[in-house]
Amino acid sequence: MSIAAPTTAAAVDRYWLDRAAAMAVRGHGGAEPNPMVGCIIVDESGRAVGSGYHARCGGPHAEVAALAAAGPAARGSTLYVSLEPCTHHGRTPPCVDAITEAAPARVCFGCPDPHPAAGGGAETLRARGIEATHVPSESCRLVSAPFTRLLRTGLPWVTAKWAQTIDGRIATRSGDSKWISGARSRRLVHRERGRVDGVLTGIGTVRTDDPLLTARGVRRRRTAARLVIDPHAALDLDSALIRSIDEAPVIVVVSPGADRRDVDALRSRGVDVVEGPTCGPRIDLTGTLTLLARTRGMHSILVEAGPGLLTGLFDEGLICEAAVFVAPRLIGDPQAIPPLTGRAPARIESADTLHLRSVHHRGDDVLLRYGVSGAAGSSD
Ligand SMILES: NC(=O)c1ccc[n+]([C@@H]2O[C@H](COP(=O)([O-])OP(=O)(O)OC[C@H]3O[C@@H](n4cnc5c(N)ncnc54)[C@H](OP(=O)(O)O)[C@@H]3O)[C@@H](O)[C@H]2O)c1
Repeated sequence: MSIAAPTTAAAVDRYWLDRAAAMAVRGHGGAEPNPMVGCIIVDESGRAVGSGYHARCGGPHAEVAALAAAGPAARGSTLYVSLEPCTHHGRTPPCVDAITEAAPARVCFGCPDPHPAAGGGAETLRARGIEATHVPSESCRLVSAPFTRLLRTGLPWVTAKWAQTIDGRIATRSGDSKWISGARSRRLVHRERGRVDGVLTGIGTVRTDDPLLTARGVRRRRTAARLVIDPHAALDLDSALIRSIDEAPVIVVVSPGADRRDVDALRSRGVDVVEGPTCGPRIDLTGTLTLLARTRGMHSILVEAGPGLLTGLFDEGLICEAAVFVAPRLIGDPQAIPPLTGRAPARIESADTLHLRSVHHRGDDVLLRYGVSGAAGSSD
């Protein structure tokens, strides 16, 4: 089947902005906490003459990488970029200066820059005689969403991941979950662990599974801290997490009432123990994620937890997207463990609705990626 070439000017813009957004994703794990940004330069004949993405925080921005690839062909071109070019002199010079020097005829961006210091690039370009157009693009908005959310709310981008059977269970009633999904799915999870700042779980999962939560057998772009919500500082000193503390940091969030001796024992083993803010008897998860983002640089988090923590995170609107692996197994036991608990909507219309973003096959498993409406500052 052939894909029809875009014909109208608006469709052409959207086509190239989608391509720029797809480029941006290549920077995932390297660019953050900067935004992921992609850029494609298209000459007057409609041919791509250069492209680039923001690969590393502190490294060249996407526009600069694409302009370098295009060389003199950038003159008179259209520069498509997923996020409005910056005006800010941070770790690198402002992109608007590099663009002005390369003299494209037009700049088209898919998402305005919300940064108070770096925004306003379009106006600067116009003042310098370069046409700058904002063409709202869903793909560009989505790829910029983690940056926008952090800037607007101080909250990290949180992805909930779980593996479930066809009948929607993440473990048997005895808690056994190894392994619901196949080797190819698990490899993808390791890859994602190597691209986020933190892998978050609850003490229930640590007790049952004794997981390592490290990124193994893949190329890592960053080393994620292992984060455990553990109100009573009950993490076993002989757990796999503590035995592997030299491989990746362990941060344990406890309640203020946790026994000092347990806290000190964890600290003596190199664990970073954080006293979480509380809301009644529970740890306030919103306050905790804000604290971890601000004080520990936890800007992107992958959650690998059971229903205890997952439900709390969903209830507080903290999950931005869900990555659900559906494996070809049936448990058939109503007491087997589901991903969420404690809700009892009488009618289907009262159940949360997620937005399907993509479907991938991983061996015999299917990976479903969903956006979650209502997550603070999220993309839906
Ligand atoms: N298939 C999969 O993808 C997958 C992934 C992960 C886990 N699992 C399965 O899930 C099961 C474990 O489920 P789970 O619900 O027990 O584990 P969990 O969600 O990892 O941990 C729950 C515990 O975390 C603490 N907690 C969570 N939110 C809290 C809050 N706001 N304030 C204070 N404490 C909080 C509580 O500890 P306290 O009890 O100390 O109060 C709670 O019991 C296991 O069978 C595991 O195999 C499956």
